[in-house]
This record gives sequence, C-alpha cells and structure tokens, in this order.
Amino acid sequence: MKIRLILCSATMLLLAPMMAAADTGADTYNTACAVCHGAGIAGAPKLEADAWKDRLAKGEETLVKHAIEGFQGDAGFMPAKGGRADISDEAIAAAVKYMIAELSK
Ligand code: HEC
Repeated sequence: MKIRLILCSATMLLLAPMMAAADTGADTYNTACAVCHGAGIAGAPKLEADAWKDRLAKGEETLVKHAIEGFQGDAGFMPAKGGRADISDEAIAAAVKYMIAELSK
C-alpha cells in the first residue's frame, strides 16, 4: 500500500515539470501571440495547417529563432517575442512548440 503511494507520488513529481512546460507554451501563446496569430492580424499566419506548410518546412529551430529575434517576411513583420521583451526565450520556444503541436492536430 505504502509503496504504491510512493510510486504514485514519484510519477507525479516526474510529470509535473513536463505538464508545466506544456502550460507555459499554451499560456504564452494565449497571452502574447494569439492577439495576432489567432485572428490573422497584420499578415500573421493563423494557426491553420495551410498557412504554416512552408513555414514548418523551415524547421522548429528556425521558427523559434524567428519568434525570439523577430522576422520580416513577405506577409508582414513578426516583432521579436511578439513585442514582449519580458518573456523568456524558453517560454517563447515553448509557445512555438505549442503552435506546431496545434497545427499537427
Ligand atoms: C504584432 C503581431 C504579432 C504578434 C503579437 C506575434 N506575431 Fe508571430 N508573426 C507575425 C507576422 C505578421 C508573421 C509573418 C511574417 C512573415 O512571414 O511575413 C509572424 C510569423 C511568425 C512565425 C513564423 C516565422 C517564419 O519564419 O515563418 C512564428 C514561429 C511566430 N510568428 C511565432 C510567434 C510567437 C511565438 C508569438 C508570441 C510570443 C508571436 N508570433 C506573436 C505577427 C505577430
């Protein structure tokens, strides 16, 4: 009985940081990115597979770099970190991962 409890707690401890990472991505996206990417404002590609096909081909690393440093493309201007310099690089990377995951749903 006790052992099962300990095992269960250990699993929770292992899972918590992973769940936190997923939350960070979704939270960051919703607070800092959805304002443009949700509605497709100012040329921002909406979270729809068609709009992202060519972008996904650049690879996750490049997309994360462009999200952190900003990116001027044909469609418009992606401000560095969506204009939120206060957000950490890690949280931006998590947001991009979240976007990629949403696109492949
Ligand atoms: C002010 C509006 C705006 C906000 C806020 C914004 N974006 Fe963007 N984003 C754009 C536009 C416009 C583009 C398209 C640029 C182009 O390709 O011409 C873009 C493109 C991108 C791309 C694709 C880059 C590429 O290489 O094709 C990624 C990834 C991205 N945004 C991530 C994010 C993330 C993550 C956030 C939140 C932290 C965010 N964006 C917030 C406007 C915005």
